[in-house]
Amino acid sequence: MNYQNIIQQTENEVLTITINRPDKLNALNTQTISELNHILSTNRNNNDVRAVVITGSGQKAFVAGADISEFADFNAEQGKMLSKNGQQLLFDYVENYPKPVIAAINGFALGGGFELALSCHIRVASDNAKMGFPEVTLGVIPGYGGTQRLAQLAGKGKAFELILTADMVKADEALHLGLLNAVVPQAELLNKVNEIIEKIKSKSPVAIAHAIIAINANYKDGVDGYATEIEEFGKCFESDDFKEGTQAFIEKRKPIFKGKMI
Ligand code: COA
Repeated sequence: MNYQNIIQQTENEVLTITINRPDKLNALNTQTISELNHILSTNRNNNDVRAVVITGSGQKAFVAGADISEFADFNAEQGKMLSKNGQQLLFDYVENYPKPVIAAINGFALGGGFELALSCHIRVASDNAKMGFPEVTLGVIPGYGGTQRLAQLAGKGKAFELILTADMVKADEALHLGLLNAVVPQAELLNKVNEIIEKIKSKSPVAIAHAIIAINANYKDGVDGYATEIEEFGKCFESDDFKEGTQAFIEKRKPIFKGKMI
């Protein structure tokens, strides 16, 4: 696929995806969503990629929302399909991705941009970042999982407040609310993200993939998270990574994980 709206780079086993529509503050149109899905699907089973970073181009915006110009004249059915397809192709896809996905929030994360960040496993923001859900100002609601994931991370009360008032929160407040894992000056954003990734890279990719499934299970309707944890815990025992990790401990050396999925 010839990407129009994203830039990809793989270095040191980290795939960095930059959403690149700076003149539109990296707004997510359907083309960008399908490009993001494509690059993620292409690398899903790529053992040379251990983690993914998603960021926005420029210093002003991570993503300023879904592209308003694209849906301004949609009817109810088209609106529903926009939400459904987007959730499947990108937001749920990111949340359930077997490798860690980290949002490097380099500025405005609004609407769909905030939802994309909330779908990622870890969020690091620059201190100029602002996030929020302006949707009710447009006469609509968050449709890419925002009503669910904001409440999961910040609680129902704060989700009501932020979605109903459309107030934006600054990075330091978002950190305080549990929406972010870290806040750093903009020039240090990717260094901080890489610091976290380096720690993850020294661990078992197989165990990490199982941990992602188990953690997410708590937030899926009709799924027993504890039962999922038992299943995923058990599966780890079949992996070469488990044998290597335990053997390395006994031999008092660092493990060398191959990350071979079962
Ligand atoms: N969809 C489509 N285009 C968008 C966009 C979006 N979500 N967000 C920004 N843009 C475009 C603007 O239309 C403008 O394009 P133009 O130069 O062709 O007119 C360009 O990006 C720059 O944005 P601008 O509004 O001029 O920048 P600003 O610094 O004055 O304001 C924001 C920045 C983020 C506050 C403002 O762009 C904004 O409110 N964006 C919409 C946020 C939103 O409602 N998102 C939720 C969508 S569901």
